[in-house]
Amino acid sequence: MGIFRTKSIAEYQSDASKSHLKRALGSLDVTLLGIGVIVGTGIFVLTGVAAAKYAGPALMLSFLLASLACGFVSMAYSELASMIPVAGSAYAYAYTSVGELLAWLVGWNLVLEYSVGASAVAGGWSAYVVGLLKSAGITLPAEYTMVPADGGIVNLPAVLITGFLTFLLVRGVRESVTVNKILVGVKLLAIFIFLFLAAPTVNPANWEPFMPFGFAGVSAGAAVIIFAYLGVDSIATAAEETKNPAHDMPTGIIASLLICTLLYIAVTAVMTGNVSYTELDNAEPVAFVLRELGYRFGSAVVGTGAIAGLTTVLLVMMYAQTRAFYAMSRDGLIPKAVCKIHPKYATPHRITVIVGLAVMLISGFTPINVVAEMCSVGTLFAFIVSSVGVMVMRRKYPDIKRPFRCPAIYVMGTLAIASCAYIMYNLSSMTWERFWVWSAVGILIYFAYGYRHSKENK
Ligand code: ALA
Repeated sequence: MGIFRTKSIAEYQSDASKSHLKRALGSLDVTLLGIGVIVGTGIFVLTGVAAAKYAGPALMLSFLLASLACGFVSMAYSELASMIPVAGSAYAYAYTSVGELLAWLVGWNLVLEYSVGASAVAGGWSAYVVGLLKSAGITLPAEYTMVPADGGIVNLPAVLITGFLTFLLVRGVRESVTVNKILVGVKLLAIFIFLFLAAPTVNPANWEPFMPFGFAGVSAGAAVIIFAYLGVDSIATAAEETKNPAHDMPTGIIASLLICTLLYIAVTAVMTGNVSYTELDNAEPVAFVLRELGYRFGSAVVGTGAIAGLTTVLLVMMYAQTRAFYAMSRDGLIPKAVCKIHPKYATPHRITVIVGLAVMLISGFTPINVVAEMCSVGTLFAFIVSSVGVMVMRRKYPDIKRPFRCPAIYVMGTLAIASCAYIMYNLSSMTWERFWVWSAVGILIYFAYGYRHSKENK
């Protein structure tokens, strides 16, 4: 049964042993890396809609629920990452454990995580830029800043930033550790300024009713804002560059999850404590609340911080997408020509342009909540397969060296699967329909191309 053929772990480990990455990162670096990729559209944009439409002030509980699921998954993920530290992470893990077809499906769903997710981030970026310009007295024509479903023609700022970052990626720009640290600082500063300005005016009466949509609303809220934690899986890919993976990986992952969860809950509490949750249904809720409170300058500063933060998340997501495709083309599941490396820039320029165009198209024309949910469903699927994968690997390769061993793996893995499945179950039926269609198209492509061209098909 070719669809269950696996790539041997020795092959991956020999790839990894040839790498010349420096083991330079400690647990603080891993934490900062985590915060750098995690904090973005989820907190700056989706909190508003999620509070207004799904969970109300109890969105704080949704964040808790989502962080638990991500915590279980990340622990399992880190074990795989420390064993097989290669590009294409979740896809590669599935290829060694559960076989080619599922691996392909994970890779195919990573497109939802990275490309579709990047589109949601580009949409959030646009909302903050439009809001910032507006507070400076410059009003952009609404039809060119909104997607058709919201009454516009195209979300042009989202298209333009994506185009610009695509250009940088083709030229080989990668975010350096230093730039990441600066931008993490800027993002955190924006959040702290918001909390500092708006916390004193919280009126607990706004937290009543706390759970206007019941516990079902809390779960639905978790399904939307799990997006705010995505990226946590990509921390795992730094395993190979840490000084002491067994210590630095879990510490870094847990610390970044904890810090983000605390910040997210604090922001949600302050937001819903200042205005009624029903008013938060807009794309830049953090800046909106500050404007409502009369802090026009503060709102502009926070908006600028948000824009800086969102830019890096967008860059990292598009970068991750091109490298995931690169890993798949190396295995023959997509045509090699598509991932050809540019002779001068040494980047996979063709696939970068294709990914850039796709993100431009999606972010220009699709509402942000639709793309964010699609991103969540694809990622959760990949999380579940990886959690199964780590348990399969324990059985299949019990003796292989594991720089980081996930404690109580069978309990942790099962909890990861159950919590992700529960959150997936709470996504809207439209999202599920799109997910089935997307997966069916993926399976067709696999049988039409990948199955025959796979390197494992000897
Ligand atoms: N967690 C990232 C964000 O919220 C994807 O933008």
